[in-house]
Amino acid sequence: MKQVTYEGLTFEPYITQAEIAARVKELGKDIVRDCAGKTPLFVCVLNGAFPFASDLFRAVEDIDAEITFIRLKSYEGTSSAGSVKQVLGLHENLKGRTVIVVEDIVDTGNTIHRLIKDLEQQEPAEIKVATLLFKPEALVRPVKPDYVGFNIPTKFIIGYGLDLNEKARNLNDIYILKEE
Ligand code: HPA
Ligand code: MG
Repeated sequence: MKQVTYEGLTFEPYITQAEIAARVKELGKDIVRDCAGKTPLFVCVLNGAFPFASDLFRAVEDIDAEITFIRLKSYEGTSSAGSVKQVLGLHENLKGRTVIVVEDIVDTGNTIHRLIKDLEQQEPAEIKVATLLFKPEALVRPVKPDYVGFNIPTKFIIGYGLDLNEKARNLNDIYILKEE
């Protein structure tokens, strides 16, 4: 595999397409096991989680499951611009349901922490978090994802949905920023 360059930054191969596929299959098995007899609602957080959600959702074909998609929009006019998010596009009734939030990455945990608080208002039976990537050392919130693809160091990564200024989401493998 080759290095790639975006905006003058060089990234080197980090997790291959094959490794991702194998790990997603395993996560799917874990969810099938945990959700036997339930009909979980997958909530895919756009844009970054869409490749992961697509693969993970099809890795749970042995149970009934549903999927929906949300976006998080930064509130405008707040002092902490960018850190507080509003949920857009969620039209399903979550009351009493098993919800599986599907994220590309949990980094500081700010986004997922806020999202869980918002979803809890609808009184789901349970909220689980499935994230492809987790940066445990970057965490500043008390968040513990239930299904983690890969624990990674606090470094910038791209590919398989993860972007640098909206580019690189279409890379099949995951790449990490090269130290100069
Ligand atoms: N890469 C891309 N997007 C991100 C990252 C990252 O490492 N962390 C949080 N959002
Ligand atoms: Mg991004």
